[in-house]
Amino acid sequence: MCGIFGYFGPKKNATEIVIDGLKKLEYRGYDSWGVAYKTKDDIKIHRQIGKIGEAHLVVEDVEDIEESIAIGHSRWATHGGVTQANAHPHTTENREIVLAHNGIIENYLELKEVLVQKGHIFTSETDSEVLAHLIEEEMKNDNFLSATKKALHQVEGRYAALVISKKENKIIASRRGSPLIIGIGEDGERFIASDIPAFLKHTKKVQYLDDNELVVIDAQATTFYNLETDEKVEKRIIEIEWTEESAEKGDFKHFMLKEIMEQKETLYRAINQDAGLIEQVADAIKNAFGTYLIGCGTAGKVCMTAEYMFSSIAKKHVNTAFGSEFPNYHHFLTNKSLVIAVSQSGETADTLEALEIAKAKGAKIISIVNVETSTMARMSDIVIPIKAGPEKAVASTKATTSQLAILMLVAYAAADRLYEGKEILVSAAGQINDMLNPRYEEHIQQLAEKIQHAESMYIIGRASNYPMALESAIKLQEVSYIHAEGFAGGELKHGPIALISQGTPCIVLVGADETRKAILSNAMEIRARGGYIIGVSPQKEEVFDYWIRVPDCETASPIVNIIPVQILAYQLALLRKNDPDMPRNLAKSVTVK
Ligand code: M6R
Repeated sequence: MCGIFGYFGPKKNATEIVIDGLKKLEYRGYDSWGVAYKTKDDIKIHRQIGKIGEAHLVVEDVEDIEESIAIGHSRWATHGGVTQANAHPHTTENREIVLAHNGIIENYLELKEVLVQKGHIFTSETDSEVLAHLIEEEMKNDNFLSATKKALHQVEGRYAALVISKKENKIIASRRGSPLIIGIGEDGERFIASDIPAFLKHTKKVQYLDDNELVVIDAQATTFYNLETDEKVEKRIIEIEWTEESAEKGDFKHFMLKEIMEQKETLYRAINQDAGLIEQVADAIKNAFGTYLIGCGTAGKVCMTAEYMFSSIAKKHVNTAFGSEFPNYHHFLTNKSLVIAVSQSGETADTLEALEIAKAKGAKIISIVNVETSTMARMSDIVIPIKAGPEKAVASTKATTSQLAILMLVAYAAADRLYEGKEILVSAAGQINDMLNPRYEEHIQQLAEKIQHAESMYIIGRASNYPMALESAIKLQEVSYIHAEGFAGGELKHGPIALISQGTPCIVLVGADETRKAILSNAMEIRARGGYIIGVSPQKEEVFDYWIRVPDCETASPIVNIIPVQILAYQLALLRKNDPDMPRNLAKSVTVK
């Protein structure tokens, strides 16, 4: 979480460039923000709580500087509340250096104790401020670069950090476990950010910083070091494919709606994968002694859905676990295990930790990610890119359906029926294209108006639609803030049915398979207790109070069923005056454990 952005170059409006970049990183955290820029012999800092919005800063004393240098930060609070003092960038009492940090310094309390004894005065409750003091302490005996290296050797945990010094014209940056990418612009311009879309309007040429590396950006060069060996590292410049438009809202009011509508195309892109790659993953599953699908949040629900798909399509058992729970399975891992990570960002800390554990046991690692150059992708033996394009809204939509489509293809490939799977998916993509029209949106809007004041909502499904009921609950919770819970239809009578009272909205995800009758019986049970039944189904059923039609897409049913719930969640967010792109307490990329 948290977005960081730095600029080094000849343009005098460095601060403006950084603020603009931070706006594009706000999805990573929006509790507070701040920038620091260099003047001829000082560093000025501006910090404030809340979203950046239309912020514009009047800068001072930058006319006669040779190189413009500015860094900025958009925060998702972990250590310390949402206050101006806890906002980044951080500095020290002597203001020798200024720092923006993303991640968690796990041993900050021990380090802080020592620094306080040495006379350092702390002004925030953050773990990050420790690193600023630590560098400054080392600078008593060393230059900026050596001091930063020495300080970084002392910190435990994950970080991406940008540091500037009053005395030297350079940005020093380093990462361990949190993303940081360098953009190479014209005329010596360099950008450094947590994610590529932040500088996409300036350049598509990038260099990746890997874990335990440090980079020095100055007028002479961009110099990379391996922090462990202290040797210089050569880096390739890579030209990336994303366009600036793909990372912007265009005519849409929100990224969430844009991304929902993009599913008209993203599914085709996911399906038109390199068949060889799909077969390769299917073979790896067939040959492994134990396959684990790992993901968090929505990606975790995708894994659970895939477990049903592998069972019914390929007659193959795969295990699933949330990234944060996976460490509890390490006892079963061997060098014959296969671990498949599913992630939009490829940077989720819990999933990364799971992969690190699996790697240490010699397991094979595969990742299914949207950000092809992410940490997860780079630590995997095989990568399947889902090719959904940038997903900016906190609520995952298009990445979800693309991940489902790819895992469904792999399940068909594992059953030696890849072609059949592809045909079903191509037909589903075509029908989704027809479904996503303004009339469909209006129909769901009418439902949203009816249920907007509900206190609780329940969603039920069976088989592969059960995890989609869980995913529906996530979508509704995160943007509408209505209490929502998903259940397996058959589980209702074992307890949850006690929650149903007169008028409680219950969404029933009807599968296009043999589970139809059973889930409709469960819907009857709810209706008999006063529940308001919203059926998501290819056909109208007697028990429905409100019917949302979806095409009959056979085994692709979880993919089509989740889309109307995404639209409903979006519309409820608007009716309840919530920001669907930046819901409270959340961030797009969860890079803390
Ligand atoms: O980037 P990832 O797919 O690894 O992210 C995992 C979860 O944090 C993510 O799916 C989260 O649950 C979404 N906000 C849900 O919409």
